[in-house]
Amino acid sequence: MTTLHDRAIRGFASDNYSGVHPEVLAAIAAANDGHQIAYGEDAYTARLQEVFASHFGEGVSAFPVFNGTGANVTGLQSMLPRWGAVIAASTAHINVDEGGAPERVAGIKILNVPTTDGKLTPELVDREAWGWGDEHRAQPLVVSITQSTELGTLYTPEEIRALADHAHARGMRLHLDGARIANAAAALDLPLRAFTRDVGVDVLSFGGTKNGALGGEAVVVLDPAASDGLLFLRKLNMQLASKMRFISAQLVALLEGDLYLRNARHANAMAARLRAGVEAGLSDGSITGVTFSQPTQSNGVFATLPDGVADRLREAFRFYDWDAAKNEVRWMCSFDTEESDVDAFVAELSRLT
Ligand SMILES: Cc1ncc(COP(=O)(O)O)c(C=O)c1O
Repeated sequence: MTTLHDRAIRGFASDNYSGVHPEVLAAIAAANDGHQIAYGEDAYTARLQEVFASHFGEGVSAFPVFNGTGANVTGLQSMLPRWGAVIAASTAHINVDEGGAPERVAGIKILNVPTTDGKLTPELVDREAWGWGDEHRAQPLVVSITQSTELGTLYTPEEIRALADHAHARGMRLHLDGARIANAAAALDLPLRAFTRDVGVDVLSFGGTKNGALGGEAVVVLDPAASDGLLFLRKLNMQLASKMRFISAQLVALLEGDLYLRNARHANAMAARLRAGVEAGLSDGSITGVTFSQPTQSNGVFATLPDGVADRLREAFRFYDWDAAKNEVRWMCSFDTEESDVDAFVAELSRLT
């Protein structure tokens, strides 16, 4: 097959628009040839357990799945009874971007809370943390947070600890959607366990795809008492890969050395460069009318643009509206975003404003 796309085109639409990191592709090739037992009894999935243990400590178990929605839905389902509910920020991927799969596939009610920055606090959790024992109310038994958040913001370990303590004191468990967990580790400059297991996260959706994998995530159980039935739930949720070795090999490639950090640091640095470029334009007057709607703490930049600018800018670079009513847009950087992409983007924004 010949290449069908223009390899030079990159944009700021999503960290999923990028391809596969060459070291991950090499890992897939290295795992190829010969036969391995299907459905996870292969050498790469065994190695993955060791790799996760090296990051999160002994006693954790990882269940590779195909995608992030599958990780969230399957992980949450393993944490909840049939009558359970999850408290999440209204901007949470589980609430707005999973097609209702948590409700329809897992049968979980999501109790969502508006936030200003995509982050829950104990006070915000309390808006929905009530009604235990009331047979008329879906029982709030899990709090779910996203790190880094859908708005590109970050929780500090102390903030996660406060949420975990708050949830646990009320008989709830803490789930973390880590579709961009590598970006958070890079931005916080902390080991993965420092803002997950060590501060009370019970179950984690570990993201590989946005970090340079072809496609692969994992449900990681950090506290075995918080999760039940994952052995069976992956199959029920159509997330049990027969050729699991190739999903595991990708995650091993990211996590065995520092590839996850290299990729995430680069994506974060490109977002910082984009923001700094726009800020420089705003201060020297070459860019006008742009305001930032969120702090840039990981690999996403959120901004509002003057009327009509987004569509004209999109003629050269793809990106998504975040809240079209407010002219708010989202610019995402990836492991393969280049400095020249960012600089050309800032130059085009300057030309249009
Ligand atoms: C916060 C968050 N969680 C989970 C996902 C996983 O989604 P998918 O099912 O497309 O892999 C994404 C992807 O956009 C995301 O942004």
